[in-house]
Amino acid sequence: MKIINFTSISFHLIFLCTLFILSSGAGDIISADQSFKNGDTIVSAGGVFELGYFSLPGSKNHQYLSIRYNKAGGIIVWIANRDTPLANASGALTLSSEGSLKLVNATNSLIWSSKATKSLQSPVAQLLDTGNLVIRSVNGPEGDFIWQSFDYPDSTFLPGMKLGKNLATGLDWSYTSWKSNDDPSPGTFQNKLDINGYPQLILWNVSARFIRLGPWNGFTFSGIPTYGPNNLFVNEFRFDDQEIYYMFRLVSNSVLMRLVTEPDGRVMRYTWTNDTNKWDPSIFLQAVYCDNYARCGAFGSCNVNFLCRCLDRFQPKNAVAWKSLNFSEGCVPETPLNCSDKADFVRLSNKKLPDTQSSTYNFSMSLEDCRNKCLQNCSCTAYANTLIAGNGSGCLLWFGGLLDIRDQEQSGQDFYVRVAASGSGKIHIHL
Ligand SMILES: *[C@@H]1O[C@H](CO)[C@@H](O)[C@H](O)[C@H]1NC(C)=O
Ligand SMILES: *[C@@H]1O[C@H](CO)[C@@H](O)[C@H](O)[C@H]1NC(C)=O
Ligand SMILES: *[C@@H]1O[C@H](CO)[C@@H](O)[C@H](O)[C@H]1NC(C)=O
Ligand SMILES: *[C@@H]1O[C@H](CO)[C@@H](O)[C@H](O)[C@H]1NC(C)=O
Ligand SMILES: *[C@@H]1O[C@H](CO)[C@@H](O)[C@H](O)[C@H]1NC(C)=O
Ligand SMILES: *[C@@H]1O[C@H](CO)[C@@H](O)[C@H](O)[C@H]1NC(C)=O
Ligand SMILES: *[C@@H]1O[C@H](CO)[C@@H](O)[C@H](O)[C@H]1NC(C)=O
Ligand SMILES: *[C@@H]1O[C@H](CO)[C@@H](O)[C@H](O)[C@H]1NC(C)=O
Ligand SMILES: *[C@@H]1O[C@H](CO)[C@@H](O)[C@H](O)[C@H]1NC(C)=O
Repeated sequence: MKIINFTSISFHLIFLCTLFILSSGAGDIISADQSFKNGDTIVSAGGVFELGYFSLPGSKNHQYLSIRYNKAGGIIVWIANRDTPLANASGALTLSSEGSLKLVNATNSLIWSSKATKSLQSPVAQLLDTGNLVIRSVNGPEGDFIWQSFDYPDSTFLPGMKLGKNLATGLDWSYTSWKSNDDPSPGTFQNKLDINGYPQLILWNVSARFIRLGPWNGFTFSGIPTYGPNNLFVNEFRFDDQEIYYMFRLVSNSVLMRLVTEPDGRVMRYTWTNDTNKWDPSIFLQAVYCDNYARCGAFGSCNVNFLCRCLDRFQPKNAVAWKSLNFSEGCVPETPLNCSDKADFVRLSNKKLPDTQSSTYNFSMSLEDCRNKCLQNCSCTAYANTLIAGNGSGCLLWFGGLLDIRDQEQSGQDFYVRVAASGSGKIHIHL
């Protein structure tokens, strides 16, 4: 009897201890009655990510409320207060009873807050194994969040995050570089969807186009021909009247992967496997000669060997400048196009699609209808399919100068450039 009593007591003790640990903030949740202070952390259920106050190697006296890998080198993937570090180790995060997170400093000034558009009853903040910090109702349905850190990206793009735009709410899922590796405040480079014309991804340097990744063609981005199928991750692209975004998901959960828009304007992919036990960097995007936006001007195409060349049936606008390797004025048709003249099209293969900022599109038109539509409008300069699956589908029409074209060895998408029909107008003679 005595022995049985004893086990029963220790059982109770263990039970009470467990309760105490849970209610004192261990686990993956911050509840509404809690103050989450320097030194406190929560860890996602599977132990992948950790939320806490962390500093960067070069700025130890600055504290950031951040999410980092719990293992895998403790790399920080998201910072709440990237503009306003806490000057000393005395921040406090609270979750209000309506479900908004507020971070204050030692003198109680508001440093950062989550801007939830809705409020709710019995909120909790939870760190998920994807690295997403979410606010939801304690008994709410799974996946029903009033706020999530994934909607406010830092410079790191993780599996399951979105890169694009929420057309319904106006939210931009864009990724902005840090100023430097020691200063996470926004730097000059931003990876962002441009929805002028047919949507395309662009890496901006401040407000200038720096590298254009191009539109999604169903398999990859037009400017990144090697980003098609692979055995590590699967691509997902959604395009409807609610949302336009790109996302990737890992095939195996024994691999970690992150894409980072770096302070120097490179976009790096880092991969961690438990074979290597370290982050392997690879360059995803870097401005080499032909990647620099519009290197060859209008109707010019960039080629690593020849530098710039005019498209077929086009010639340099300024032959003298062109010969001295100044390509900025681009090319013009060999035979000037006159609206009343007959037009024809030159088919171009294995090239990056031109900038689509002055384009229109229709997913349900055939290539034939697309050509006719282009012929009906004098300022239409080119057309192509929107998607390349099967025999291709949809219609993309360009207006005005065609910019930022380059030669690509593989999987370039065909497009058709308007020229004067042979025999019409003056023929420009080369010497
Ligand atoms: C942080 O600053 C406040 C206000 O200046 C001060 O009261 C507090 O002691 C400081 N805390 C630490 C850990 O330095
Ligand atoms: C708290 O933030 C306010 C406003 O930015 C600032 O004036 C104050 O010095 C900060 N307090 C500490 C202890 O850093
Ligand atoms: C980015 O833009 C800034 C400001 O215009 C410029 O000084 C800098 O050289 C640019 N960086 C690159 C890599 O082109
Ligand atoms: C990673 O480790 C787990 C468990 O130790 C193992 O099952 C898995 O095969 C490993 N994966 C790789 C890619 O090494
Ligand atoms: C190239 O030509 C353009 C216009 O003709 C001119 O404005 C620019 O300064 C030239 N660039 C260089 C590097 O000479
Ligand atoms: C276009 O063609 C028409 C008819 O052939 C001619 O009258 C007109 O001058 C031409 N315009 C230009 C800019 O060449
Ligand atoms: C797209 O093309 C189809 C077929 O030609 C047409 O019925 C439809 O109205 C077009 N949609 C838009 C938005 O222009
Ligand atoms: C030609 O297309 C442009 C761009 O969509 C449009 O602004 C213009 O009105 C069109 N012109 C005609 C004659 O349809
Ligand atoms: C593509 O076109 C070819 C020839 O016109 C046809 O035989 C084939 O069925 C088409 N494929 C698809 C997926 O539409």
